[in-house]
Amino acid sequence: MNKIKKIAIIGTGVIGAGWIIRCLAHDKIVYAFDKDLKLKKNLVSEIKRTWPYVKKLFNKKTLKLKNFKYFTSLEEAVKDADFIQECASENYALKTKLMARIGKYAKPKAIISSSSSGLLPTKIYSKCKNPQRTIIGHPFNPVYLLPAVEIVPGKKTSKKYLDNAKKFYKSISMNPIMVKHELPGYLSDRLQEALWREGLHIINEGHATTEDLDRAIEDGPGLRWSLMGTFLTFHLAGGKAGMRHMLEQFGPALKLPWTKLKAPKLSNKLINRLVAGTKKQSKGKSVTNIANIRDEYLVELQKLRKKYEKKLR
Ligand SMILES: NC(=O)c1ccc[n+]([C@@H]2O[C@H](COP(=O)([O-])OP(=O)(O)OC[C@H]3O[C@@H](n4cnc5c(N)ncnc54)[C@H](O)[C@@H]3O)[C@@H](O)[C@H]2O)c1
Repeated sequence: MNKIKKIAIIGTGVIGAGWIIRCLAHDKIVYAFDKDLKLKKNLVSEIKRTWPYVKKLFNKKTLKLKNFKYFTSLEEAVKDADFIQECASENYALKTKLMARIGKYAKPKAIISSSSSGLLPTKIYSKCKNPQRTIIGHPFNPVYLLPAVEIVPGKKTSKKYLDNAKKFYKSISMNPIMVKHELPGYLSDRLQEALWREGLHIINEGHATTEDLDRAIEDGPGLRWSLMGTFLTFHLAGGKAGMRHMLEQFGPALKLPWTKLKAPKLSNKLINRLVAGTKKQSKGKSVTNIANIRDEYLVELQKLRKKYEKKLR
């Protein structure tokens, strides 16, 4: 049984709501706060929408809503928590200020984690008390279903807190990835960002639609990626000789102009193409509608993956 029981979630937008649902599903006591108090209503409806999927994935019977408390002040929300997961907007100035306040109100040994997608922990915790207990715990949307969390230390983070954070995330059925040291974008978002930037160039130059590019991933690399990432996949691409032969064959392509990487300018023309493209792909379905389809699929997929993971790892 993990000792970390009381979790404060600060910022209850897309990611904060996801952490709340995952923590409740694992019998944690959850305290929440958002500067926008109107969000409480959305949160309750999101918990109701997602519960059937969460219940199925984690084999749970009942949702203990009595373990959930919404506070109207930051101090009240964090003061009794063992673990604080910050999920406010992605902005250095905002997070640095917020972390200083969280550090002031939190118990001295409470772990403070940020859901940031790529900001450097040493910078966002530069004004936070007891920085040895501060980390990044970067999840993936939807947090209530996806197991990945990147744990990134700042320059002052101590190993003891990193280990305890790892144990906590495991206790809520996550698979922590321990990032050796801080780097902008951490690991997964650097990979995602490279693909995203390339896609923006292709659309900007009019070579394909958003749907074409999504199909190019969904029907090919995407199907493989949920079981094995790029490296193991490319090891198989080399035939029986594996990675060495793959590099001999495709190594020269690294010199061809296949990628641009520096992002194109987000001009109005490009923004309109992206918005119109994804609207067409949605075929009249709302974001909630599509999220329900995705969630049902992710539950089934993870059940299937478990069977094959055992053979591979
Ligand atoms: N959306 C994603 O796919 C995703 C994935 C992984 C990580 N993240 C990270 O999670 C964090 C939150 O992202 P999101 O997508 O949930 O954003 P969001 O806009 O949905 O929610 C952010 C919430 O933070 C609240 N907030 C802002 N300042 C605050 C403050 N001072 N105190 C309390 N609440 C405050 C806002 O009212 C809002 O409800 C960001 O750091 C983001 O990079 C996002």
